[in-house]
Amino acid sequence: MSPQISPSILSADFARLAEEAEAVRGADWLHVDVMDNHFVPNLTLGLPVVESLRKSTDIPIDCHLMIEDPDRWAPQYAEAGAGSVTFHVEAAAAPVRLAREIRSLGARASMALKPATPVEPYEDLLPELDMLLIMTVEPGFGGQSFLDIMLPKIRRTRQLIDRHGLQLWLQLDGGISAETIERCADAGADVFVAGSAVYGADDPAEAVRRLRELAATATDNAPWVHRH
Ligand code: DX5
Ligand code: ZN
Repeated sequence: MSPQISPSILSADFARLAEEAEAVRGADWLHVDVMDNHFVPNLTLGLPVVESLRKSTDIPIDCHLMIEDPDRWAPQYAEAGAGSVTFHVEAAAAPVRLAREIRSLGARASMALKPATPVEPYEDLLPELDMLLIMTVEPGFGGQSFLDIMLPKIRRTRQLIDRHGLQLWLQLDGGISAETIERCADAGADVFVAGSAVYGADDPAEAVRRLRELAATATDNAPWVHRH
């Protein structure tokens, strides 16, 4: 799969969300960060905004739920038409049941790991998921510095995915920019969230293209890519 870019509207102007979606035309996804002031120390937006946004853009919505009790709330985001719904494993009571429910509602099921959460305990769950999100900052805020110490976890996760022959996408979120995306692609990620690097640019759509190009070149040269 060629690398995908998911611009995070956390760094956009919340009073002009439809225009901000339009500003990243050509992006693969639109990343929407839902925060509840409990799972993370920040409060953003919820279901009504996701419902409105979905009607005002053709870009599929990549919903990242940084909330407590996703078992209760996540299915509603799938019902609202999000193309992908990510819940945090640290908050989920029954991640397998939740992933199956999200899939049954027609969305891609995705599970996120905070920086200190290891991937290994979840190896057997991976076939239940369409995407795994490895946080490369502590969740809660945009504009933080990329945590280089996550690179070994990204490499180990890529090895797990390949060992099991899974189609699982590997997404990174936090501090992704033209400075960091190549080492991330090299380590095995294929879906990249970028907030400040896209919305902080003069031309956000051009920033998306540039990031995708840097990732694609790094992927072509990456050790984990099987060439036939
Ligand atoms: C942080 C959010 C991210 C955030 C990333 O908790 O999950 O999606 O928008 O912002 P940048 O790309 O600026 O690090
Ligand atoms: Zn996010």
